Amino acid sequence: MNEMTAVTDATAAKAPTLPDAQTVTFVKHWTDSLFSFRVTRPRSLRFRSGEFVMIGLLGDNGKPILRAYSIASPAWDDELEFYSIKVPDGPLTSRLQHIRPGDQIILRPKPVGTLVHDALLPGKRIWFFATGTGFAPFASLLREPETYEKYDEVVITHTCREVADLAYGKSIIDSLHEDPLIGEMVDDKVKYYPTTTREQSPKMGRITDLLRDGTVFRDLGIDGISPETDRAMVCGSLAFNMELKEILEGFGLREGANSDPAEYVVEKAFVG
Ligand code: A2P
Repeated sequence: MNEMTAVTDATAAKAPTLPDAQTVTFVKHWTDSLFSFRVTRPRSLRFRSGEFVMIGLLGDNGKPILRAYSIASPAWDDELEFYSIKVPDGPLTSRLQHIRPGDQIILRPKPVGTLVHDALLPGKRIWFFATGTGFAPFASLLREPETYEKYDEVVITHTCREVADLAYGKSIIDSLHEDPLIGEMVDDKVKYYPTTTREQSPKMGRITDLLRDGTVFRDLGIDGISPETDRAMVCGSLAFNMELKEILEGFGLREGANSDPAEYVVEKAFVG
C-alpha cells in the first residue's frame, strides 16, 4: 500500500515543467536504508570533484524540497551520481528513495564545497575520513585523476554501523583498478580501511578511537600524521567532524579553505 503511494509520488515528480529537471538513469539499493542513483548531467554544469549541489523533488504543495548532496561521481563523468540514506519520515528521502530510471529530479546547478584539492596545500599522503553517507565526496575524489597526480598515497577510512553499510564504498574501491581513466594511476596508492561499530567485522571500532590509540598506524604501517607530509578531508556527522578536527589539530594540521589552503578540510554529510 505504501509502495503504491510511493509510486504515485515518484510519478508526480515527472512533471515536464520542473525547473532544472534531470532524468534518473540508474538506481541501486544497497541496504534497506542506503541507495545510490545516477542522473543526467546538465551540459553547462562544471564542478570540482568533492563538491555538492542542491537536489530534490517537488512536494505535494508544488514547492521544491531540496537538500545538499555531495556529487559522488568525478568531475569528468558524463552523468552525476549520488549516494543517499533513506530516512523513513525525512521530507525528501522518504520520497527520493522511490525514484526509478526515467523519473525526474530537480538539480540546482550551483556546485560548492570545501572538500576540494584547491583547499589543501601540496602534500605526499592524503587521508579521506568518512562515516556513513559521508563516503560520497570521496567516491568522487577517489575517481579523480588529480588525486593521484597530487599524492603518492591515498588512505580512505570508512566507519559504519554494520558490514552491509560498507558495500557502496567497497564497490567504488573495487572498481578503481578497472577504471579506464584512472586504473593505472591508482596502482597501489590506495589504502582502504573499513571499520564497523555495531556488527562483527575484520576491523571493529570508531576510526576516532583507532587513531587515538595508534591502531590505524600500526595496521597500515604508517608512522603517524604530520603537517609536513599529510593532508586530510573529513566528511561525517557533526560530532564525528568535531572529533576528527581535534585529532588532526593535535597532529599539528590546520584547517584550510578555498581562499586559504592548509592541511585539512571538513564538511558535514547530508543526514535527513
Ligand atoms: P557508533 O555505532 O559507535 O555510533 P550513524 O549511522 O549514526 O551516522 O553513524 C555512522 C558511523 O559513525 C557509526 O559506525 C558510528 O559509530 C560512527 N560515529 C558516530 N559518531 C561518531 C563520532 N563522534 N566519532 C566517531 N565515529 C562516530
